[in-house]
Amino acid sequence: MTEPGTVLITGPTRNLGRHAVLAMAARPRARRPDLLLVGRAGRDLTAVADEARARGARVHEIGCDLSRLADVRAAATTARDLLAEGAVRPLRALVANAGTMSADTRVASSDGYELTFAVNHLAHAQLIGDLLGSFTAPARVVLLGSNTYHANVWRRLLGVPEAKWADPVELARPATGAEAPGMVASGVAYSNAKLAILYYAHELQRRADAGVGVSVFEPGWMPGTALGRGAPAAVRAISRALGQVPGVSTPRRSGPLLAAMALDDTWAHLRDGAFVVKTRLTEVRPAAHDRDRERRLWEATAELLARARMPR
Ligand SMILES: NC(=O)c1ccc[n+]([C@@H]2O[C@H](COP(=O)([O-])OP(=O)(O)OC[C@H]3O[C@@H](n4cnc5c(N)ncnc54)[C@H](OP(=O)(O)O)[C@@H]3O)[C@@H](O)[C@H]2O)c1
Repeated sequence: MTEPGTVLITGPTRNLGRHAVLAMAARPRARRPDLLLVGRAGRDLTAVADEARARGARVHEIGCDLSRLADVRAAATTARDLLAEGAVRPLRALVANAGTMSADTRVASSDGYELTFAVNHLAHAQLIGDLLGSFTAPARVVLLGSNTYHANVWRRLLGVPEAKWADPVELARPATGAEAPGMVASGVAYSNAKLAILYYAHELQRRADAGVGVSVFEPGWMPGTALGRGAPAAVRAISRALGQVPGVSTPRRSGPLLAAMALDDTWAHLRDGAFVVKTRLTEVRPAAHDRDRERRLWEATAELLARARMPR
């Protein structure tokens, strides 16, 4: 068994991320990692940190709004400092869990990028890029995917259609116009960001050190989480109702599965953006493997992150 070291996780404040944190913190001492919790500073972050500490974990809160790349760069610096000082054990896993589905694709991040693409993809690309040299092998990067990257009848009913790929610079551009483009556009933006995560995972594996394995986790559909908080009330009501259907995933069920992706020997072999749906290693659709798109996404991401560092 590999010494569990430290796990950094984004989006620890609620639902899937919170349950993953609590599952990691509740492990027996020899299998319990130190935790770096990267989330928006405030009561929710402190609450989950305290809950994890109460279970025996060593925890550091790193306040960070992922819609501000300056915050993300500062969070990476804080994590690197804590690792360098020996305040936590060596970094063994980064779990890029935070996600959002902006209800209005005209909304921009503080760097001027479409919010869903900015939080789900760009912020994590910045964080992972800044920490890639700080891992101790064997290490894991676990990204959060979603089956919405391809056609999916249930999710389409809830306004989460499949991806419609475009050049990443286009995907990063907020919509314009006086009228909100609507929930279908929000769903497409979400699915595009999740397809970007698959492409990015494949390219990241080609560029990372051999000791870092990159995988993608799909927690199963968890209706009623805060992901759809911007959706119309009727859609949220249907979503909550569907959450009661037996067998549907919940953060309480899928959180420990995400923790296992970061820590369990069962998943130690995962590489190349291997896609795990709950507990099942799954082949992604052929369209989710595309060398040209993957290389272009890598380059465009670097351009977009560099542009955000320039004074405006
Ligand atoms: N729900 C599903 O059915 C489903 C299915 C497949 C994949 N997923 C993926 O699973 C992951 C977790 O989903 P969930 O359902 O647990 O979502 P959730 O309830 O909306 O929680 C999302 C987490 O991300 C954080 N976050 C969002 N925007 C942020 C920002 N700008 N800065 C910092 N943190 C931010 C939230 O923090 P705050 O508490 O500060 O808002 C929260 O901790 C996401 O990547 C999602 O795409 C979900």
